[in-house]
This record gives sequence, structure tokens and C-alpha cells, in this order.
Amino acid sequence: MIRVGVVGAGLIGKERLTALRTLIEQGCPIKVSGVFDASPDLCQKTAAEFRLPALSSLDDLLNTSPDWVMVALPHDVAVSAAETALCAGTKVLLEKPMGRDLTEAARLLAAGGDRLWIGFNYRFYQGISRAFRDIQSGRFGDLISIDFLLGHGCFPGQEKTWKLDGQRSGGGCLIDPGVHMLDLCIQIAPSSLTVKGGSSWQGFWKTGIEEDVSLVLSSGSFSINLRVSIVHWKSTLRMCINGTDAYGVVNGRNRTYGNQSYVVGPRWGWRSAPNQAASEVTEVESDGIDVFTRETEALLFPEKVSEAWPHPGTAKEGYAVMQLLDDIRKALRLRRNFAIEGESGKQQT
Ligand SMILES: NC(=O)c1ccc[n+]([C@@H]2O[C@H](COP(=O)([O-])OP(=O)(O)OC[C@H]3O[C@@H](n4cnc5c(N)ncnc54)[C@H](O)[C@@H]3O)[C@@H](O)[C@H]2O)c1
Repeated sequence: MIRVGVVGAGLIGKERLTALRTLIEQGCPIKVSGVFDASPDLCQKTAAEFRLPALSSLDDLLNTSPDWVMVALPHDVAVSAAETALCAGTKVLLEKPMGRDLTEAARLLAAGGDRLWIGFNYRFYQGISRAFRDIQSGRFGDLISIDFLLGHGCFPGQEKTWKLDGQRSGGGCLIDPGVHMLDLCIQIAPSSLTVKGGSSWQGFWKTGIEEDVSLVLSSGSFSINLRVSIVHWKSTLRMCINGTDAYGVVNGRNRTYGNQSYVVGPRWGWRSAPNQAASEVTEVESDGIDVFTRETEALLFPEKVSEAWPHPGTAKEGYAVMQLLDDIRKALRLRRNFAIEGESGKQQT
């Protein structure tokens, strides 16, 4: 039996609890030992909803001797919670990012990086997984370029939450949700990615963070054009792969982003079909709702995973994402130093 404790009962803590409940219903040997959230009301309510013990501190949760602790907290408090759990000897899933900057990421690696995984669940969307395997198998020929767009528009009042507070979240759209895309870029081009240029825009939310970023990255043999935005009113996830033999398009995610589809077409497909659309094959259509379940299962039961990709994000991979983020921040002059909890942060650039 694998014992799991969950810290944080907000949006993603509940996603993890739902994934764990689904796996238990499927017969997986998991026992959720309890949930802890700093909001006692939310903690009680969530514990009742999932029929779990409501725990009153992280120490109480660690006293239940969990094998795994899943940390779904605001970024300014997540690092110390993950460090505490690692020091207690558990395995830890830390929802992305791996700290707010490279210094915090290095602290986490030192605290027990071989027992730490980072929640990069975008790898587990079915369209993205399939497209990656097609890249790896050479289906597109030599890669020419990949375009990524991840954008959403938050919600009215979000500027008053920790998510748009640069000190608490670690920055703007590059760190959240952008690190998901940086992770995918590194998975496609693991040996080297350099920042060729980019620009950033801010001014809608007025909290001092970057709100819309355009980047060009180069792998040496192909380029990646990446746009990430939190002022993109149409919720969008799109990945367009262009190779010498074929192209592939992943579109959508789940819920307001629309279902995810993955379509592949050959070069000049219109020559042998009535039109270009008729030459394309739809490889995946999915509502994307199972993504946290798929990632959680791969974390807890790696022996069940039959495909080479995706695998859960390791701490080393999380650190590589933070290195790329640091390179981008330097290039766009967005780099920050963060104060330890309770102290005020300062902008560096
Ligand atoms: N993978 C994804 O798609 C995805 C999406 C959104 C958020 N996230 C990540 O998940 C994590 C949590 O984000 P969220 O959207 O659930 O945030 P949230 O604000 O909805 O939830 C955070 C919870 O943490 C609790 N909390 C705050 N400080 C605490 C502390 N010191 N100890 C215990 N509880 C504390 C709050 O009461 C709140 O319930 C972040 O790392 C975020 O980047 C991932």
C-alpha cells in the first residue's frame, strides 16, 4: 500500500485528490493519509468531500508516515514545505515550478533531488504525448520549426491573488503557466536550447509582472517560437510541428480551452487528396480530463508505464527548466532575486 499525504487543498490539491480517488476506485493500492491546508475551513471541507482526515499542520501530515507528499501550494511557501518533507525522508511531488528561481531550485536539488518530482502534467495530455512520440520516431522528417501558444485571460480580481504577485509567484506568465511550455521545449531539444530573442509586454494587470511574452529559441538545427500570455482572452493551447516530411497540430487542452485534438498531415497532401484537410489524419481527440490521473499513476506506479514517453518530471529536469527560465529572464531583463519568506523581494535587472 502506498501512503500519500496532500498539502494544499486549492485548485490543484483537489485535482490530485481527485486523481488519487480515481486510481483507488480502479483498484490501485493507495491510502491517502490526510490533507493539510492553511485555511482550516477549506481543509475541513475538502477532507469531508474526499472522506479523509483533516490534518492541522505539515508536521501532523508527516506523522502519518506517508511514502509520498504532494505539495500544491503558492510558490513562496511551496519550497520550504517540499524541503521539510524531503528532510523527513518522503518522496515529494512538487507542483511546478521548482521554486521561483534558480537559487530555490538548487536548494531543492540539494535537499533530496533523487526523491523529488515536479508536476509537469502537460506531458500527459494525450495529444501532446502522441505528438512527442511522433517527433521521436521521425514521423515529421527533420524538424524545421515548432510553434507553441499557451494563453489565457485569468479572471477579474486575480490581480489580488498570489498568482499575479511577483514576489509570491516568482514572476508572471513565464513562470506560470510558461514553465509547462519550457519543459516541453527541453523535452524536444534536450541537448541545447539557446535564447535567440524575444519581447515581453505588461500593463493590464498592473502588478509589475510580465503578462505576454514572445520568444525565439534555437536547438541548433530547428527553432521554437513560443508565446505565453495571461492577457489572451481566448484560452488557447496550440503546438504546431513542421518537419521536412509532415506537419502535426495539437490544439486544445480541456474545459474552456476546448477538447484536445492532434492532427497529422503529409507535405503537399493536397496533391493526392481532394483538399489539404482530406489528407490529414486525426490521431487523438480527448477531453483532457484524465491528465492528472495519468501523471499520478506514472509517479506512483512507474512499473505500469509501457511507453518511453511521457515520464513524470524529475528534479533534474525541473532544474533544467529553471536554468532555461533564468536564461530567458536575463535576455529579457526580467530577472529577480527573491527574499526568504517574510522578507521583501527586490527586482534585480
Ligand atoms: N499543472 C497545472 O496545470 C497547474 C495549474 C494551476 C496551478 N498549478 C500549480 O499548483 C500549485 C498550487 O496552485 P493552485 O492553483 O492550487 O493554488 P490555490 O491558490 O488554488 O491553492 C493553494 C492552497 O494553498 C493553501 N496554502 C497557502 N499557504 C499555505 C501553507 N503555508 N500551508 C498549507 N497550505 C497553504 C491555500 O489556503 C490554498 O488553499 C502551484 O504550484 C501552481 O503553479 C499547476
